[in-house]
Amino acid sequence: MPSARLTIDPHFTIGRIDRRVFGGFVEHLGRHVYDGIYEPTHPTADAEGFRQDVIELVKELGVSTIRYPGGNFVSGFRWEDSVGPRDQRPTRLDLAWHSTETNEVGLHEFASWLDKVDSDLMLAVNLGTRGTLEALDLLEYTNIKGGTALSDRRVANGRTDAFGVKMWCLGNEMDGPWQLGHRSADDYGKIASQTAKAMRQLDPSVELVVCGSSSAHMPTFGEWERVVLTHTYEDVDYISCHAYYEEKNGDLGSFLASAVDMDRFIETVVATADHVKAVVGSEKTVNISFDEWNVWYIERYHGVDKIEGIDNWPVAPRLLEDVYSVADAVVFGNLMISLLKHADRVTSASLAQLVNVIAPIMTEPGGPAWKQTTFFPFAITSRLATGQALELKLDAPTYATEVYGEVPLVDAVATHDPETGRAAVFLVNRSQDEAITLTVDIAGLGDVSVLESHTIADDDVYAKNTLAEPERVAPRANDTASIDGGLLTITLPPVSWSALALG
Ligand code: AHR
Repeated sequence: MPSARLTIDPHFTIGRIDRRVFGGFVEHLGRHVYDGIYEPTHPTADAEGFRQDVIELVKELGVSTIRYPGGNFVSGFRWEDSVGPRDQRPTRLDLAWHSTETNEVGLHEFASWLDKVDSDLMLAVNLGTRGTLEALDLLEYTNIKGGTALSDRRVANGRTDAFGVKMWCLGNEMDGPWQLGHRSADDYGKIASQTAKAMRQLDPSVELVVCGSSSAHMPTFGEWERVVLTHTYEDVDYISCHAYYEEKNGDLGSFLASAVDMDRFIETVVATADHVKAVVGSEKTVNISFDEWNVWYIERYHGVDKIEGIDNWPVAPRLLEDVYSVADAVVFGNLMISLLKHADRVTSASLAQLVNVIAPIMTEPGGPAWKQTTFFPFAITSRLATGQALELKLDAPTYATEVYGEVPLVDAVATHDPETGRAAVFLVNRSQDEAITLTVDIAGLGDVSVLESHTIADDDVYAKNTLAEPERVAPRANDTASIDGGLLTITLPPVSWSALALG
């Protein structure tokens, strides 16, 4: 059995883990809002029509800030459509997803749902087909107490207190040719800077995210970040990263190493942001909001799901309903490890998305809600990773991948909470055929024991949770974990994700 070693020392800190890293994303897309979080006829629906079984699962997932309402959707969205008396809200075409948006659920309803799931609102403004004035109008509506046309309209619409939204995205994926209002980096940088300055004039306390690249594989990647940040460096707090991974052409080895790509993506954007910081001579540091990340079988969307036809604009169609496997959960858990390994610069992130649409939670209309395989690494990491992320000394064998070259078989991150004295370790074994024995030097943590151990692995790496078999895959306690004389040993099964809580 191959072996690997790592050393954990609470003095070697990377950075404080911002709870915003455990954010989510709800887009008006497919059955996410309608038939997902909102289904007034469902047996568990509350007085506002929200499914309480879904609310309970979202709470268990442990999601901090939730980005809303898109995504590609936001670039065709008129926010005014989504407020006011429901029977007067217009029904609109959603060009991004070739669907019909009824606006039955809008800003007020969504904010009320967020209260139920204990999460904060992160709003995106439309910089695709709209501009600075509409962004200002929305900000006035949400953040001004009262006494102005739009804040009084909010009060009249039933919300006395301002929403007080802190995090704002300046558009969505403006580098993508598929985006309504797609622009060059130069054009986008100018409108983003102008809008950011205007928004801060209205509310200096807002935190602003400028669009970075929609993937590290865009032809404009790198140069997009440089040009956009050159225009906006002093105006924004974050630059976004988006990344989706899928197994392509049966190449499981490369897929399992997806986090290597995420690591490189983050490090390249950090380098570019710091380059611009030096060029503009700024005192402040722009961090990363990794506000879309997940496993997504995009090729299936283009090949099977995509809706077309001038007379075909369904309401809440089944779109992007990927069913996740054990291997997907392992990659997903590894992406979370990558985010935590960069806790000093990735201080906000949003899992895309939450319910039914490339989601950890699935629902059937009138039926049950259940956990996908990816639910588990998110919920466990969000609960256990507190305090500081730690730099690890990892010594592991490597394997060859088609896409990323030679990569380590094991990836890991540890966290330590100085307030509670507790630590956690998150681990993946990317080997497809061999278990790995890992020895961890934890002498620096003092006298600790294993409080919890969880491993996701299965003889069938493509096993999934489905409507027919909703509990086929779940994490199990890893009884191989033991501590002796400052050394922890654990066996990591092939294609596995594990988490340990120590204290
Ligand atoms: O999350 C699905 C889509 O992926 C989002 O709408 C878009 O921003 C990205 O391309």
